[in-house]
Amino acid sequence: MQEMIGRGATAASAVADVAHRLSHAGVDRPRLEAEALVRAALCLSREGILLRPQTQLSPPQRRRLEALATRRARREPLPYIIGETEFYSLPLRVSPSAIVPRQETEILVEAAIERAARTGARLAADLGTGCGAVAVALACHLPNLRVIAADVSFAALLLAGENCRRNSVAGRVSLLCSDLLSGLRAPVDCIAANLPYVRTDEFDSLQPEVRDFEPRLGLDGGPDGLGPIERLSVQLIDHLSDGGFAALEVGAGQAPEVAKLLRAGRLSEVETIADYAGIPRVVIGWRRE
Ligand SMILES: C[S@@+](CC[C@H](N)C(=O)[O-])C[C@H]1O[C@@H](n2cnc3c(N)ncnc32)[C@H](O)[C@@H]1O
Repeated sequence: MQEMIGRGATAASAVADVAHRLSHAGVDRPRLEAEALVRAALCLSREGILLRPQTQLSPPQRRRLEALATRRARREPLPYIIGETEFYSLPLRVSPSAIVPRQETEILVEAAIERAARTGARLAADLGTGCGAVAVALACHLPNLRVIAADVSFAALLLAGENCRRNSVAGRVSLLCSDLLSGLRAPVDCIAANLPYVRTDEFDSLQPEVRDFEPRLGLDGGPDGLGPIERLSVQLIDHLSDGGFAALEVGAGQAPEVAKLLRAGRLSEVETIADYAGIPRVVIGWRRE
């Protein structure tokens, strides 16, 4: 195979070459991603590239960059390639054991933090924790809160544990392998859940990054996308303390149906929060005696 990063390549020329290749492969924001790959291959900070654009790549650095760029051109998600991402301004390790946390989920976190702080919540559950993004963010922002990070995937829980340690909250987050809330032994004051909600028939039309690399268990919500949320909606009332709330992330167009499910599950004061694009993204219900 012909080498893309030739002898004499500098940091600046490597960024341009990789960006060109990523653009051909259909990657959004090719230049930004090329910069990230060059930084990873050269172990440079963002400033490092800006300050030393004429740094010449050594042969091992060229080989490393070539390998990283090839993976990205095959549409493997950038966070899986560099092994980390940022969520709610917190550093998180990511791997194909769990989906890459999305920006939309920050709306769920923000809503849960605000309500948990206002009601003095002591114990929360992050259901479908994946890499632990929501649990870690809740624990980092609410120092008196204990969090149960639950997932049906053991591999995801291992990753969540690593992220708890990395963000110094492992002492307040316990990991639980559980199908929805079935493993929970005592009521909690807050349940934040980002469960799979993609319809099965939508799966093949997703971006290759998602369809071909992220775990289907984290995304596929069944024929109408609402399978896990519907099963959860009947469990909530028995696992919330009086005055506690559940906040669920939902897909575009699903909020009215999920609001109905929460009411049918005997939660009250059901409310919906929109994301920055105006799409109703989080549905919240309360347990009131
Ligand atoms: C959309 S991902 C969310 C991951 C993470 N909370 C985030 O926001 O990035 C959904 C997660 O739910 C988990 N999951 C799927 N079905 C489940 C079930 N029945 N019980 C518990 N967790 C489940 C998956 O393993 C996956 O980690």
